[in-house]
Amino acid sequence: MTRKAPTELRSHRWFGKEDVRSFGHRSRARQQGFGADDMAGKPVIAILNTWSDANPCHAHFRIRADEVKRGVWQAGGFPMEMPVLSLGETFMKPTTMLYRNLLALEAEEVLRANPVDGAVLLGGCDKTVPALLMGAITMNLPAIFVPAGPMLRGNWRGQVLGSGSDVWKYWAERRAGTLDECSWREMEDGIARSFGTCMTMGTASTMAAAAEALGMTLPGASSIPAADSAHSRMASAAGRRIVEMVWEDMKPRDLVTTEAFENSVTATMALGGSTNAIIHLVAMAGRAGARLDLDRFDALSRRTPFLANIRPSGKFLMEDFFYAGGLPGLLARLKDMLHLDCMTVNGKTLGQNVEGASVFNDEVIAPRDLPIGPEGGVAVLRGNLCPDGAVIKHTAVEPRLRQHAGKAVVFRNYNDLEARIDDPALPVTADSVLVLQDAGPLGAPGMPEWGMLPIPKKLLAQGVRDMVRISDARMSGTSYGACVLHVAPESFVGGPLAFVRDGDVIELDVPARRLTLRVSDEEMARRRADWKPREVNYPRGYGKLFARHVSQADKGCDFDFLEGTAATVEPEIH
Ligand code: FES
Repeated sequence: MTRKAPTELRSHRWFGKEDVRSFGHRSRARQQGFGADDMAGKPVIAILNTWSDANPCHAHFRIRADEVKRGVWQAGGFPMEMPVLSLGETFMKPTTMLYRNLLALEAEEVLRANPVDGAVLLGGCDKTVPALLMGAITMNLPAIFVPAGPMLRGNWRGQVLGSGSDVWKYWAERRAGTLDECSWREMEDGIARSFGTCMTMGTASTMAAAAEALGMTLPGASSIPAADSAHSRMASAAGRRIVEMVWEDMKPRDLVTTEAFENSVTATMALGGSTNAIIHLVAMAGRAGARLDLDRFDALSRRTPFLANIRPSGKFLMEDFFYAGGLPGLLARLKDMLHLDCMTVNGKTLGQNVEGASVFNDEVIAPRDLPIGPEGGVAVLRGNLCPDGAVIKHTAVEPRLRQHAGKAVVFRNYNDLEARIDDPALPVTADSVLVLQDAGPLGAPGMPEWGMLPIPKKLLAQGVRDMVRISDARMSGTSYGACVLHVAPESFVGGPLAFVRDGDVIELDVPARRLTLRVSDEEMARRRADWKPREVNYPRGYGKLFARHVSQADKGCDFDFLEGTAATVEPEIH
């Protein structure tokens, strides 16, 4: 393998020349206490750190950054920690999705503008994973992703609690009047017991696994609980490896090929992963020049068995998944469906990485001949209500609703939903189809996780726990139910969802992948003629930029000016 010479390092342009600018750069490194022995001729490794007090999932990232630095020093590199925007899922409003592309842009520009040869990406809470990877793929410097890792299992009176999933479950019981205030308060204390990401198969766990299957993490990294000492060891190993990757000149686009994305989709489908993965992987593939669209996603989902028995689609949590063999164990059971020759960040192929990996608990990771379900967790729907597609996590749907026709109860936006959903006079039955408009990329804006519409209180009291719900929103990866999401085009831009009215019959047929609005073309044309487009309510600032440039869900919601694989321009140094 050819190795770079120190003079070929990108950072050499900053530190290695004999001119006045280099003098300035070196003297300012001296200001920080680093002598020539510390840094001359060494790869500069950026540690992009999404630590923030406003992001509880990343509370350990200051320590992890130090552990990465330890590895970088050990391998003869020079670490530079660089803080970037932290997208804390719990606190940011209206949704972190509004800011995924902003972090992607920031990651790209921080890497571009600084004397960086390689990068370790510290992310985990939902959007931080695709955002950092999108920026790194575009910048195309050697990079390793270090996932935050899932938090410990939740606990309430000896019962296991899962992030998100059990909040939705017990909130429904609370609204139905079957759970008392004291129990609800106790759950608040017990559901998030350590740093780390949601420990269900939510978007964070899904995207971390997707990154590993893509080849962008060290093998096994995505399953390690955040509080396990193995997580610290993984962080310092990433620090050591990234230095070698710089010398080897191994860059993201050498790894994230169309085949690698197919591995990633296969893994997420076998995991029963979050619907959000579709949007993020399509956006990431767009940055890599890889081919991935909704139809390919659905084809891969159909042929992939659902193996991981993890909430919300299953019974266990990520800690159990780790003990059962983690992602390498799961991938070892899917070998015939993977492109095993795809290269990964550790310099070995995916096939070499999963060679010898075992599963230690068949109840958590099901065997191939006894899968939890015959196909992957996410289905892509087509039909006159979603000409550009919609998705449903059908593994988390009550089976009776997989083929269902019912009358629409339409909410114009989330405020309308909130005002009327529990109105005793709302004309709704268990067979109704709840429809939410104006919840998409532009309508909300930002496409929040509103897609798991609440069940009306009066139906909860009757024992109803699932209904068909349709929106152009996303839903949390920890959510569940017969929720049709990502309807494209969205209602705000005049997609057919905008023209649904109370009482229209909507038919969902998951096996046939159809979503049909039983309204004639003539009537739809009449409704469309009455429709008036509106302006997004962002007269200035980042919101205005977002509204002008974001793409629809089926295209990954990237900004048009960030898409594509055009070569990045190196900064001039004068
Ligand atoms: Fe951070 Fe779920 S809130 S991963």
